Amino acid sequence: MSEPLRLGIAGLGTVGGALLELLARNGGLLAERAGRELAVTAVSARSRERDRGVDLARFRWYDDPLALAADPEIDLVVELIGGADGPALALCRAALAAGKPVVTANKALLARHGAELARLAEANRVTIGFEAAVAGGIPIVKTLREALAGNRISRVYGILNGTCNYILTTMRETGRSFDAVLAEAQELGYAEADPSFDIDGIDTAHKLALLAALAFGCPPNFAAVYTEGIRHVSPLDIAFASDMGYRIKLLGVARVTDHGLEQRVHPSMVRIGTPISQVEGVFNAVVAEGDQVDGTLYSGRGAGGGPTASAVVADIADFAKGARPPVFTVPSAALRPLPAAPMEHHYGAYYFRLMVLDKPGVIADVAAALRDENISMESMIQRGRAEGEGEAVPVVIMTHETQEAQIQRALARIAELDAVVEQPRLIRIVDL
Ligand SMILES: NC(=O)c1ccc[n+]([C@@H]2O[C@H](COP(=O)([O-])OP(=O)(O)OC[C@H]3O[C@@H](n4cnc5c(N)ncnc54)[C@H](OP(=O)(O)O)[C@@H]3O)[C@@H](O)[C@H]2O)c1
Repeated sequence: MSEPLRLGIAGLGTVGGALLELLARNGGLLAERAGRELAVTAVSARSRERDRGVDLARFRWYDDPLALAADPEIDLVVELIGGADGPALALCRAALAAGKPVVTANKALLARHGAELARLAEANRVTIGFEAAVAGGIPIVKTLREALAGNRISRVYGILNGTCNYILTTMRETGRSFDAVLAEAQELGYAEADPSFDIDGIDTAHKLALLAALAFGCPPNFAAVYTEGIRHVSPLDIAFASDMGYRIKLLGVARVTDHGLEQRVHPSMVRIGTPISQVEGVFNAVVAEGDQVDGTLYSGRGAGGGPTASAVVADIADFAKGARPPVFTVPSAALRPLPAAPMEHHYGAYYFRLMVLDKPGVIADVAAALRDENISMESMIQRGRAEGEGEAVPVVIMTHETQEAQIQRALARIAELDAVVEQPRLIRIVDL
């Protein structure tokens, strides 16, 4: 067997702790598979005193993760600190500049600085592994980079945030409000104390930018992702969706259109019966559509210490065997920036719900606003009758395919109608 691969691990939280445990438990198996021992040499975290349930005495300790990157007895640096900038970015730059490969679970960092770090890695003849950064335990990075190499990918999409999927699933199963289910998810540890990264779609957008880079050979362009979270999804919309044969999921979708690369994250209506509609609770799933394989689906646990550490270890084992794949499928010089397709050009079908006062003529006014924008209705449902004066009833409309700009103009006009008492709720229907 070759010399051990000496690892420096920065960040010993949920993922870093699970990584130490995994290496201890499956070390023998991994050494056989990697052809050499994976030996943790040094670690770094903020607090040396914090009990992590693991004996750290056998590892060299660094308060400063940059010193860990500089340690000549470390061959590979594992970054599990988190955050798009700050110490995680400084650590990755220092490790790569020192000619050490980096393995990270940090999607925020790579979505923003991925292209720069990939160039730095190549200039120093090393690479970056980020299997753990997208959909945790699902091996989608290697799949896009290697297993589907023979395909032109036309679209990649998925449920990339377990917190959102748990909230939407539980809202449907219990009929409870978004706020109530979010509070419960926080108690159960499925949602952070500050849940905005998850529920506002930012985490999904980070991951989508990385999937798009892998699938389409472009630098990650997080700034170009249209992002809308799930705060406004109501139990009423979920119930209407079910009645009409749909589930509501927070999807990230990337595809190349005539207008450029469309990257969007938003609550989406997906037909019940499609594989993605059946992915429930904290589970994630990714669908990659290629010209040779057609649609392929990958699903599993998208977060948590064990699944994420499993992905970290897969990269470490690859690098231990000498693999040095380009970070984003092709060498940096071959990455081609794609123009961002503006959301106004998005073409698809729409669901929208109005709360209207039951007055004569209101439906005719809504229909006129749609007609003037050339939008044709597929169906309309009005539920119940107002019980008393001033009480609003829901009216739900599904449209045929149309352009985002047209539906937005029509909804702006509809929102101005006297009889429409709340901001219209719009959910895009995703054709799968
Ligand atoms: N948790 C998941 O399920 C999951 C899934 C996929 C990807 N990820 C990604 O994995 C990364 C780590 O996530 P996590 O959930 O494990 O985070 P976490 O539990 O908050 O752990 C972060 C660790 O980084 C350490 N740290 C913070 N600032 C530091 C600094 N300046 N120098 C050295 N160490 C520092 C902390 O030290 P102390 O312990 O001393 O505070 C802690 O050990 C993030 O990029 C996250 O997005 C997480």
